[in-house]
Amino acid sequence: MAIFNSRSCLVLSSLVFTVLFLSCDSSNESSSVTTVSSLPGNKLYEQNCMSCHGKKGNLGVSGATDLTQSQKTLEEKIAFIKSGSGDGIMMSYSKKKGGPLSDEEIDKVANYIETLGQ
Ligand code: HEC
Repeated sequence: MAIFNSRSCLVLSSLVFTVLFLSCDSSNESSSVTTVSSLPGNKLYEQNCMSCHGKKGNLGVSGATDLTQSQKTLEEKIAFIKSGSGDGIMMSYSKKKGGPLSDEEIDKVANYIETLGQ
């Protein structure tokens, strides 16, 4: 059985090692992606919205609307967050318009701001 000499054994084991290493690496990558997109609405709000709207929604920096007094429906809020205020103060948050949030994340953050002031 000449193929099982020490040299081919070395080649085989380094191949196995490479495969293991690569599979570990790709599983790490996908789990960090999951963590980012699974942030709850309150965290998305803290990271993206609190600087103007404040922790309770009523801070009003740069003329930001008091979210606790908003007359908009959930659908109107989602549309507004996606497109932004249009005057350059509140940006377009939709990834489709160059913003940082996916549709799913905008749904979550909009549902979260519905709970502000309750
Ligand atoms: C740079 C400051 C700023 C940031 C950051 C910001 N906003 Fe705003 N937001 C504003 C301003 C200013 C308005 C009022 C714009 C107008 O009425 O023309 C506004 C209005 C709104 C409205 C409309 C409320 C209403 O009843 O008319 C919603 C909803 C809203 N913001 C949600 C959010 C969410 C959610 C985030 C984070 C993803 C966010 N905002 C981040 C400044 C900001």
